[in-house]
Amino acid sequence: MSKLYIEGGYPLAGEVSVAGNKNAALPILAATLLTDDEIILKNLPDILDVRRMVRLLECIGKKTEYKSRNIIAISGAVSNNKLPEEHAGQLRASILLLAGLLLKTGEAFLFPPGGCVIGRRKVDSHFEMVEDFGGEVVSDHSGFHITLGEQKAASIFLKEVSVTATENVMILAAGIKGRSVIQNAACEPHVVDLAEFLVKLGAKIEGAGTNRIMIEGSHCLTGAEHSITPDPIEAGTFAIAAAATGGEMVIHNAMKEHFYSMGRMLRSMNVMFKFQDEKTLHLFPSKLEIKEKKLQVGLWPNFPTDLMSPAIVLATQAKGSILCHDWMFESRMFFVDKLNIMGADIIQADPHRVIVNGPTKLYGQHLTSPDIRAGIALVIAALAAQGNSVIDNIETVDRGYEEIENRLNHLGSKVRREEHHH
Ligand code: UD1
Repeated sequence: MSKLYIEGGYPLAGEVSVAGNKNAALPILAATLLTDDEIILKNLPDILDVRRMVRLLECIGKKTEYKSRNIIAISGAVSNNKLPEEHAGQLRASILLLAGLLLKTGEAFLFPPGGCVIGRRKVDSHFEMVEDFGGEVVSDHSGFHITLGEQKAASIFLKEVSVTATENVMILAAGIKGRSVIQNAACEPHVVDLAEFLVKLGAKIEGAGTNRIMIEGSHCLTGAEHSITPDPIEAGTFAIAAAATGGEMVIHNAMKEHFYSMGRMLRSMNVMFKFQDEKTLHLFPSKLEIKEKKLQVGLWPNFPTDLMSPAIVLATQAKGSILCHDWMFESRMFFVDKLNIMGADIIQADPHRVIVNGPTKLYGQHLTSPDIRAGIALVIAALAAQGNSVIDNIETVDRGYEEIENRLNHLGSKVRREEHHH
């Protein structure tokens, strides 16, 4: 396990560039199963989840070669459809390999997927859609055996607006001749990025970014080159870190089109910012104050659940009270205990709701990161706090944030990593 030692109290200031979107990279890597031709992916974030997904691709027969830390070439055929449990279990997004495995081998064996423990994250939507395509799912104590016989286009109504289920349907439909339709589809920027990638392989797709997506697939998809779009959550995270520590920051590759609800959240806490152009966000030191008394997550383009934990930290530094509500995940909010130990004044109303009263001074503490987003939120809290903090289990943060300590130190923080090898 690795730890970060953080000396708090220094404003994060300067310039930073947002990395490629984790949640776009993962489905796009999974979609490389669709063709044996060479795929070149650029702007791939160098994060633990991506490295784990690349390792899974290798386990099932794909050849992968890093050309640089953010560029990878992938080619070759799928030769094996059993994901090794020790690797698949670490990565919930391994479920995204389902579509490609079904197309290439007719069957897939999956273990209960890993990832964050922030709620009862069901995989039902993924299995229901396979059944809608005429496939079958059999489960026992060791996992799931999923088969797909005839490959026939289908009309899918997702029972939940699930991001990865939408992506799995898109990948499956892209490899099946004929016209498939997804209704109640997720609208996230990563869904749009995946669609653009699939189109480069030869699929026809309309409506990505809306809740009705039409996909005309093909048996003969070809190689392509694609650059992963910037990560909206990382952009929002840096913006919050600047605001919470009172720094002036210019964030490159922060896409204006991603900032409707995130920008609204920032304004609702009186954070001063402006877009210099379509992808450069300038944040100014601000007198934080709660202007809207409620912040609620929603389906994109509403406020993203993945930014709720950092937003709660920001609220601890703002004058006033705010109700923060995350209905999606059952366990998102429990990390607020750790903020209270640091000096915050947060009342947990129920598993989905907390009331943050601010501003409060935060003081350095010894903490353990419970999951990726709460982890980065604790890092921000430690940066804003007086004194020294230690944050254990920092691998949870490495899952999604590239070179976090180097990038923060480049912005003037004092963060040091200590690796613990067993
Ligand atoms: C993806 C993201 C993850 C993000 C999540 C929600 C990837 C690899 N991961 O995960 O970072 O936190 O989307 O934006 O892309 N739910 C409902 N009703 C709905 C929709 C969702 O109750 O209409 C619940 C689900 O049961 C689940 C949670 O919300 O517990 C997240 O749903 P889902 O969109 O399936 O998340 P993932 O695709 O796993």
